[in-house]
Amino acid sequence: MIYPVDPEKVPRVRLASGRSIPSIGMGTFGSDKYSPAETAEAVSGAIRCGYRFLDCASVYGNENLIGEVLAKAFRERVVRFEDIFITSKVWNDMHGRGKVHRSIVKTLADLRLPYIDAYFVHWPFPNSHAPGAGRDARNRKSVPFSVDRFMSTWQQLEEISDRGLIRHLGMSNMTIKKLEAVLPLCRIKPELIEMEQHPGFQQQALYDYCTERRITVIGYCPNGSPNRPERDKTPDDVVDTELPEVVEVANAHGIHPALVCVKWAVQRPSVPIPFSVHEKNYAANLRAVTEDPLTHDEMELLKKAERNCRLVKGQVFLWPGAKSWEDLWD
Ligand SMILES: NC(=O)c1ccc[n+]([C@@H]2O[C@H](COP(=O)([O-])OP(=O)(O)OC[C@H]3O[C@@H](n4cnc5c(N)ncnc54)[C@H](OP(=O)(O)O)[C@@H]3O)[C@@H](O)[C@H]2O)c1
Repeated sequence: MIYPVDPEKVPRVRLASGRSIPSIGMGTFGSDKYSPAETAEAVSGAIRCGYRFLDCASVYGNENLIGEVLAKAFRERVVRFEDIFITSKVWNDMHGRGKVHRSIVKTLADLRLPYIDAYFVHWPFPNSHAPGAGRDARNRKSVPFSVDRFMSTWQQLEEISDRGLIRHLGMSNMTIKKLEAVLPLCRIKPELIEMEQHPGFQQQALYDYCTERRITVIGYCPNGSPNRPERDKTPDDVVDTELPEVVEVANAHGIHPALVCVKWAVQRPSVPIPFSVHEKNYAANLRAVTEDPLTHDEMELLKKAERNCRLVKGQVFLWPGAKSWEDLWD
């Protein structure tokens, strides 16, 4: 029997506009491994367990089932709509004029919501790949990042926000160089940024850049995404839960190394969005941020776990003529 966590006990972070959100969310990407139904069932369990932040996206292919889960949870008074923070993202093939509106209308219909709390540009270019694509899959129509193209997508988010369908805007998979180029042009600034973040890939410079500008960091792959799609795996990839610094701290607390990763992210501070289909694991992740914090010395030790190892390299988004995945991360 797993006891729920009191959502009141979960630390919160404040967005630039003043709203506070939980400092941990539940991811919803089944990594091409777990079916939409399995993921939706985990989301249902997570809400009952005390999660009050869900990280959704149209490309995860499960928003319709998560919508059913939400409707049931609201109907059964497990949670009120106003007490849960729900995000989604426009996929790369919906950046064109008028398409962002179509995308959010579908997301809202699928999730059965009147508006979305936060909406992200999932990737800063319109390069898409087929679901379940392999490592070497390439789309010949892919193009490099362009400020004009990005701003035309962002302006659509701004307009939709004006109409009340989005409460907070977010960017994802950005670099400092791209942010430097687009932030001065944004009428509505992003309040959130989603980026890969785990002990072996801390992105300190990007983290500092965002936090100095009051952009809240949402960290994806917080446990090093052991079940990520095959296309995102290489032999040199770091395994966060086996890093000696992480294991040392885990042993000191008598907990699984994954929980050290989650505690580290929250205490950094940032907002991790771990995913699991297993109740034992998603419940442990939530509970971990409510008890037994890491010490200052342990946080210092975990800084040394940095291996600068990006796991989601994004090579399937490369355009003709691009040399390697590093070109995506200028
Ligand atoms: N913006 C973007 O471009 C982007 C990219 C990637 C991901 N995301 C978001 O970030 C979320 C999280 O990323 P992710 O799912 O790739 O990586 P992750 O949360 O780092 O790793 C998930 C895996 O870790 C295992 N795990 C979780 N908690 C555990 C625990 N307490 N003990 C042991 N194992 C545990 C799970 O295995 P079991 O299922 O076996 O428990 C699960 O397969 C996604 O679901 C998605 O919402 C966003």
